[in-house]
Amino acid sequence: MSSFPHLKHEDTRRLVVSSLIILSIAIAGSFISTETAVIATMVGAFTLGSLFVMHYHRETANQQVSLAEHFQDLQFLQSQLGLRKPLPYLTGWSASPALASRLYSLIEEHKPACILELGSGVSTVVMAYAIQKVGVGKLVSMDHDATYAEKTRAELQRHQLDHLVTILHTPLILTTTGGGGGSQPWYDLAQIQDVAPINMLIVDGPPLSTCPDARLPAFEQLSGRLAPGCIVVIDDSIRSEEKSSLDAWSSACNVSRNEDIPSEKGVSVRYLK
Ligand SMILES: C[S@@+](CC[C@H](N)C(=O)[O-])C[C@H]1O[C@@H](n2cnc3c(N)ncnc32)[C@H](O)[C@@H]1O
Repeated sequence: MSSFPHLKHEDTRRLVVSSLIILSIAIAGSFISTETAVIATMVGAFTLGSLFVMHYHRETANQQVSLAEHFQDLQFLQSQLGLRKPLPYLTGWSASPALASRLYSLIEEHKPACILELGSGVSTVVMAYAIQKVGVGKLVSMDHDATYAEKTRAELQRHQLDHLVTILHTPLILTTTGGGGGSQPWYDLAQIQDVAPINMLIVDGPPLSTCPDARLPAFEQLSGRLAPGCIVVIDDSIRSEEKSSLDAWSSACNVSRNEDIPSEKGVSVRYLK
């Protein structure tokens, strides 16, 4: 049995930095007198300790709010989807409960005829349930990774929804961006020439690990294929890397409404005119 606390890199860095701060305070105090050094060290240690406690208290409070939001969204999905099997966990790389429940509601409310998703997964399964419920809609989901494309196909089959969705393994190819001659890896659109006009677009890929502005080309590459009134959903919109992508969609002259859901990862919806 180990009684030593399990430290993460983050904790180690914090411990080293606080020790160095307290040591510096002690050294600075010792130039005045030994008593000053002792008092300054105690005050420094107390202040740093209090800051840490307040920080963790705030983090815990935020996590509790997040958990309550997740619970509410999951409960909503559970009540609406009529699940045949449990969904894979909506954590980590998967769609958050906030994204999944928003996607469901958007399909139920707007009944988009043609939906294109960039980045397949649990979100695809949730949308397939929604399509089955409303009785209209064609969903095409692209994944740059063959393994994840296959996982999503298998999940759709498990839920008996595979007939409602086309999952395409769409490798990333060097794509020209920005008109300045730059290029970056992005989905090869050759396989989706006939997917248009798009009534709902979900931007949840490619992952940032493929390129810092991985999702930016979506606007340039797809805006010409969107139907009037198209709904564009951008996941992870809280990330600084998505800012330029969001700006591109928001400044498009034909956006009629912006909706930004302040969930843990951030979900943004742009309603085009
Ligand atoms: C943000 S994920 C897409 C998530 C998807 N919309 C969902 O709801 O599950 C973007 C891409 O990351 C890849 N991916 C999914 N899970 C992953 C994991 N655990 N590790 C690495 N890549 C992953 C897949 O290729 C996916 O298309």
